[in-house]
Amino acid sequence: MKILKTIEEVRSQIKEWRKQGLTVGLVPTMGYLHEGHASLIDASHKENDKTVVSDFVNPMQFGPSEDLESYPRDIAHDAKLVEAHGGDLIFHPEPAEMYHEGFSSFVDMTVLTQELCGLSRPVHFRGVCTVVTKLFNIIQPDRAYFGKKDAQQLAVIQHMVDDLNMNIEIIGCPIVREEDGLAKSSRNTYLNAEERKAALVLSKAIFLGMQMVKDGEKESAVIIQKMQETIAAEPLAKADYVKIVDCTTMQQIPSLDRPALCAIAVYIGKTRLIDNFFTEDL
Ligand code: PAF
Repeated sequence: MKILKTIEEVRSQIKEWRKQGLTVGLVPTMGYLHEGHASLIDASHKENDKTVVSDFVNPMQFGPSEDLESYPRDIAHDAKLVEAHGGDLIFHPEPAEMYHEGFSSFVDMTVLTQELCGLSRPVHFRGVCTVVTKLFNIIQPDRAYFGKKDAQQLAVIQHMVDDLNMNIEIIGCPIVREEDGLAKSSRNTYLNAEERKAALVLSKAIFLGMQMVKDGEKESAVIIQKMQETIAAEPLAKADYVKIVDCTTMQQIPSLDRPALCAIAVYIGKTRLIDNFFTEDL
C-alpha cells in the first residue's frame, strides 16, 4: 500500500495499472477513517482490481465559520485501515497541490444544492463538486464509492456525473452505525460524554420515522412532526432541519408518493450531525 502526495505520481501509477488492463475504484474521503469508510473500501476492493483512497481535508467545502482547522486528521491511522481493507493507494495531497496559486475554476450546481444542507452550508457543495471533479480527472476511476450518510452529497454527485457525462459509476453504500445506533462520523469525535449520549436523539428520530413509513404513514408533515418532537425532547439538541424530499431532485414533497429521502441535521452543542433514511431501503 502506497501513500502518494503528488498528482504526477498518482497519474503515473494509474497509467501503469491501466496498461495492465486493471480496473480502478476510488473512495474519496477527508481522512480520519472509521468503519463507514472501511465499508466503502471493502466494496471497492470487491468490485475493482485496484482501490485508491483519497485522503484530503478539502478547504473549499468549509464555510468561514466551520471546522476546517479543527477537523480531525491522522494519516498513520488511516494508512493502517486502508491497508487492512485491501486498499492499494492513498492519495494524500497538500492543499497547494490541489489548489495552485491563481486557482479560479469551479464546478457548481443549482436546484439539488438549494435544499437541506445547502441552505445552512452555502459554499459546501460547490467545494465538494469541484474537488470530486478534480479527483475524478486525476484518478479516472471506473467506479467511485460514497456513503449514504451524506445522502445529499451522493445525489449531487450522481447528478453531476449525469449532467457532465462523466464516465464513472457512482455507488452509494449503506450507513454504518455504532452499536447504540449513532451513525459513524469523523465529527462524532467532537462530542463530550454528555453530548455523545444526547446525540442518540438523531438515530432515535430516524428509527421512529422509518417505523412510521413501514406502518404505512404517507403524509410527510405527520412524520416530520413526530421526529421533531423526539429531537425537541433532548435539551442538548437543536434541529437544523427535518425534511422529506424527492430522492433524486432533493425537493420537498408533501406525501410519500415516490421514492423519498428523510433527512435530518441536528446540532448537539456546537457539533452539527446528520442522519437519514431512503424509503426505498426500507
Ligand atoms: O464525504 C466527504 O468526506 C467529502 O465531502 C468528499 C466527498 C471526500 C469530498 O471532499
